[in-house]
Amino acid sequence: MAIDIGIIGCGRIVEEGHAPALTRLADYARVVALADPSQERRSIVANALDVLRAQQYDSWQALLSSGQKLDAVIIALPHFLHKASIADAAAAGVDIISEKPLAATLEEIDHIGETIRKAQVRLAVIHNYTYSPAVEAGVRAIRDGRIGDTFFIRSESLGGSHYRGRDPKAPDWRTQAAMGGGGVLTDNGYHNMYLSEAEAQSRVVRVYASVGRYVREQDVDDNAVVMLTHANGATTSVQVSWAVNGGGLPVHEVHGTKGSIRYSQEGMPAEIHENSVGEWRSLVSPEEAGQWTDAFYGALRDILAAWADGRNAPTGFKEARHNLAILQAAYLSSKRSQAVELTELEPG
Ligand SMILES: NC(=O)c1ccc[n+]([C@@H]2O[C@H](COP(=O)([O-])OP(=O)(O)OC[C@H]3O[C@@H](n4cnc5c(N)ncnc54)[C@H](O)[C@@H]3O)[C@@H](O)[C@H]2O)c1
Repeated sequence: MAIDIGIIGCGRIVEEGHAPALTRLADYARVVALADPSQERRSIVANALDVLRAQQYDSWQALLSSGQKLDAVIIALPHFLHKASIADAAAAGVDIISEKPLAATLEEIDHIGETIRKAQVRLAVIHNYTYSPAVEAGVRAIRDGRIGDTFFIRSESLGGSHYRGRDPKAPDWRTQAAMGGGGVLTDNGYHNMYLSEAEAQSRVVRVYASVGRYVREQDVDDNAVVMLTHANGATTSVQVSWAVNGGGLPVHEVHGTKGSIRYSQEGMPAEIHENSVGEWRSLVSPEEAGQWTDAFYGALRDILAAWADGRNAPTGFKEARHNLAILQAAYLSSKRSQAVELTELEPG
């Protein structure tokens, strides 16, 4: 049976990613209410999802105290508002699907974990990059052993600018520490971390990084170079930048002992080079690859399907904390100019 969902924050990613996905997930969820201070933002998302005017609220507090029956909320707000909105949703007894990062600091995320545990509500966090059809096919090929043991991943996105939000009051909140919590590494590099673990099929155990602000007039990082060591000995090189426009195309390659997989920007198709075959062959065509925002369908489907079966979501508090620990290890490594073992930030 479909659950009743409210959306808190009707910005760009809800418009481009969540709303199209939710229209395809009617068997699992129906969106019954929205909250956003901007009437314009509420209207855009309400039109896409057929939400009645009477069920549109100008704050999450108004939504949560309205008496509207809700099973879960999706939280897609600027990062500095995640903790307070999650606390209020938990107090209202509704399950929570939060956009990444759940929080920008380990202190904040641990506070959220405590809140969730006490309220006994379920929490899921959107880790969408592994759900793009191209990446799904790549990870399947890796699991099937087609490129042998992964030992080197290049995960690079030198896009030259941040993803501009649609908050009418502060579309560039990502570039301010008080609202974004961190810059390109926190916002974009977040995805490269869990992606690398899926591709290496192994957790990150050590991080060495250089993170800084070089070009842009902002108080958060605009460039990050990170080296991840995985438990199985594989190495991932992550490079993300709002400061440089490196060659125009993001580089995303996975190299194993028997071959390689590479992704390109054009619809994110994937190709595979099996050394025994000796040439690059298509793994996913541009038609099959779709748009990057299509990955929200898979991410939301797996969360809702797990909850419907009484299982935990595939990406919840534990996975979000681990991913944030990798990011924080990178900031720490850069500050200390030395490698950081993840056990320092994940004791026990
Ligand atoms: N998973 C991904 O690939 C991906 C991509 C982009 C953004 N995101 C995440 O989604 C979240 C939102 O990002 P965005 O780009 O959509 O931002 P955005 O600026 O486009 O949207 C934020 C929305 O929140 C609204 N808002 C502000 N204060 C509010 C309040 N008190 N109550 C209710 N609504 C309020 C704004 O009016 C705006 O509509 C962030 O956590 C971001 O990191 C994830």
